[in-house]
Amino acid sequence: PALARAYHEKVISHYEKPRNVGSLPKNDPHVGTGLVGAPACGDVMKLQIRVDEDGIISDVKFKTFGCGSAIASSSYMTERVMGLSLEEAGKIKNTEIAKELALPPVKLHCSMLAEDAIRSAIRDYQSKRSKMSEPKKKGF
Ligand code: FES
Ligand code: FES
Repeated sequence: PALARAYHEKVISHYEKPRNVGSLPKNDPHVGTGLVGAPACGDVMKLQIRVDEDGIISDVKFKTFGCGSAIASSSYMTERVMGLSLEEAGKIKNTEIAKELALPPVKLHCSMLAEDAIRSAIRDYQSKRSKMSEPKKKGF
């Protein structure tokens, strides 16, 4: 019972006090932005990561226009990916979030939004970096 209560409190706390709500500067070369929507309900999630030179996620912020489960899922995701490498962060599955937050089946797509959002943020960051490292063409 004590364990059950601790678990319950952890879940509730992501609903009531979402962590890391906010924005990072979109044009910062160290920031990747993921913006995804859920076709099922039209909810939208923005998740941003700041990546250090050594490839470690050093800051995360999110803004979710959606249901409580989507907000809790994004809050959970921001805490989960802090301090991880991009590769590690890209492997986090929505099923883990759904389990941690005890989401019912009808709310599975809410956690999927968080998985899509972190992947999309990683892709954005990587495409920014690869553009930056392209040699500058002269004479065009
Ligand atoms: Fe997404 Fe309710 S359907 S908030
Ligand atoms: Fe659609 Fe939760 S009901 S994201």
